[in-house]
This record gives sequence, structure tokens and C-alpha cells, in this order.
Amino acid sequence: MVYKGTILKYSQFLSVDNQTPIISISEGRTPLVPAPHIAKATNVGGISVYLKMEGMNPTGSFKDRGMTMAVSKAIEKGANKIICASTGNTSASAAAYAARARAMGFEMECYVIIPAGYVALGKLSQAMIYGAKVIQIEGNFDDALNIVKSLTEKYPIELVNSLNPYRIQGQKTAAYEICDELQCAPDYLCIPVGNAGNITAYWAGFKDYVKNPSARPKLFGFQAAGAAPIVEGKIIEKPETVGTAIRIGNPASWKQAEQARDESQGLIDSVTDEEMLEAYRMIHQMEGLHCEPASAASVAGLLKAAKAGKIQHESTVVCVLTGNGLKDPQTAMNQSDLEAAQKSYQANEEEIAEILNLKAKV
Ligand code: F0G
Repeated sequence: MVYKGTILKYSQFLSVDNQTPIISISEGRTPLVPAPHIAKATNVGGISVYLKMEGMNPTGSFKDRGMTMAVSKAIEKGANKIICASTGNTSASAAAYAARARAMGFEMECYVIIPAGYVALGKLSQAMIYGAKVIQIEGNFDDALNIVKSLTEKYPIELVNSLNPYRIQGQKTAAYEICDELQCAPDYLCIPVGNAGNITAYWAGFKDYVKNPSARPKLFGFQAAGAAPIVEGKIIEKPETVGTAIRIGNPASWKQAEQARDESQGLIDSVTDEEMLEAYRMIHQMEGLHCEPASAASVAGLLKAAKAGKIQHESTVVCVLTGNGLKDPQTAMNQSDLEAAQKSYQANEEEIAEILNLKAKV
């Protein structure tokens, strides 16, 4: 049977019935890829590391799992406008599902509020081509979220940030998929933390799916060091990080993330931009896989935790790569030989053979 997305696949765990109009673009069913070279780099004996490639969702991030639910439920209740604050991926996803809803004959406008200058080009261009109304503000994500929360209290417009409980419900499906594929839960789940919806969703998902509490994974969440309110125990007024997706100083699901950490006997720690970028290069260059910078916080965090002796021998670890590498080509180029890439040469075969240092066949 043709796969038709996360709602139909996992409907028994979701608040849907045959009255719910299902707006799906076949999200989910993302690959869980073995990462033996990262495993080796942890120096933990017998460890198995898998990367959950959430950037292979239809709009290139895990947000699609939550958005299929949020937009379907918004339409079920008769809404015709949705809005979100975003560091980029939520806006791309909301815009895509609104477009799909319109194509299906529903009236549905999408408005997105984003921090000016801090959204990777791939994400911004997605929101635009999907037909969202994009509003850039002189402020950060936290400012945008405050505006959106207030607007949705005052006006008839549906909030599709992860404060919307259907977003969290939908995102649980990633945990189900991991358990289905491994035929058990991993020992550890490493995940980037921004607004803290995703770590909340994974924990809820593992609790649904794994009845025996001792068989559930430890959740290891990682914030960027310049945007680590949960680690520091205080709101960060001016968050900064190269991982713009998680440049957030006051996460909406702060308490729920702490609960996930405590109930799973996990941890929430921070990784520096340097550690994140090193992991970002490793994911590309050692595994041939890709992700955006913020996603690499999961692998950077695993390496840090392993070094500190916090990962047991023989364990199975899943690192969630939350967003697609093509979202942020600028960081990819900055992390490479930018100067060489910007140079151009005459279209001359001999000259190119010389530059490539090729020796003629004998
Ligand atoms: N990774 C990526 C690629 C993200 O886009 C986000 C969040 C996260 C991790 C963190 O997830 O917020 O659930 O803790 N992006 C949001 C957005 C804030 O607007 O796209 P979280």
C-alpha cells in the first residue's frame, strides 16, 4: 500500500477520527542510518550510533510531523488562518501544509513572523514559494513568539508553534518509528533543544510506545552554549549561535523539557559553536550524510557526553538530525574552502589538468 504520512500510519495514538480532514504530504518514514565512524569517534566500546534523518521530511525538517496534525486539526475546527513565530523551519513547514490545504479546496492563509537576518536562506525561500505572508521583525525568535501568542489570543487565527498540543502529538511519531525500526527503544536519544517542543514530543512518544519504564531511553538534550537557558537556569536575553534554528532564549516548553530529562534520567547540556561545527563537518565528511548546523548539536553532544564517561559501553544511541543540510548553504560554504570555491578558471583542458595535478596515462 502507498505510504500516506504519519497521521494514517499512527492514527491510534493521535487525536484524529474520520471527521478530521487529513492534510498530509507524506511526512515521516525518515531513514535511520548507521553512523559507524561517529560511533568510533566516541571511543565507547561496543556502541552503535544511528542518525535519524529528519531533514528528509518533505520540507526538510522534523516540523512536518507536527504540522500535519496542527493544520489538519485547525481545519477540522474551521480555522482559515494560521500563524507561527519561527527560526525558519516551522515557517517553511506551516507554509507548505497551508499550500496543500488550499490545493485541497480549503481556505487557509499562513502568516510567519521571523527574526530579520537570522533565518537561513533555504528556509526563507521555502516559506515564500509556498505562498506564506512572511513578516521579518527587528527582534529575535522569543520576541516573535510573544507577538504571535498575543495575536492568537486577540484575533481568530490559529497558533501552529509547538505550544499547539497537536504539534507535539504529531512529533511523537518519530519516536514510534525509531522503536519500530530498532524493534526496541535505544538506550540514549541525543537531540538539539531550541524551543524544547521536540524533546517533549519524543519523551511523550517513548512513554506511549514503551510500556516498561526501564526500557525507555535516556534523553540527552543539547542547547547551543550561547543560547542555553535551560542549562543556565535563566532566560537568555540575547541568544547567539551559528545554529540559528536553536537561537532561542526562553523556550516555550522549558518545564516539559526538564520533565523529560528528569523522568528519563537524562541530561540537558550545552555545546559550543565550535563543537557543533566540528560535529557538522564530521557528519558530512565521515559519514557522507548531511544536516543543518543546529542539528549537529545532537552529535556534538554525544561526543561530549561520551568523553565525560556518560555513555555506557555496548549501548545503542540515536542522534536526531533535525534539519536538512541544504537549508543553510552559507554555513556549509563557510566551513569549507570558500576561497577556492569562489575562484574561476579559463575553460581550458590543459590548465585544468594542471590545477588538478593529473598525470597523463602511460
Ligand atoms: N533543529 C532544527 C533544525 C530546528 O529548526 C529546531 C527548531 C530545533 C532543532 C529545536 O527544536 O524547538 O522543538 O526544541 N526550530 C524552530 C523553528 C524553533 O522555528 O523552526 P525545538
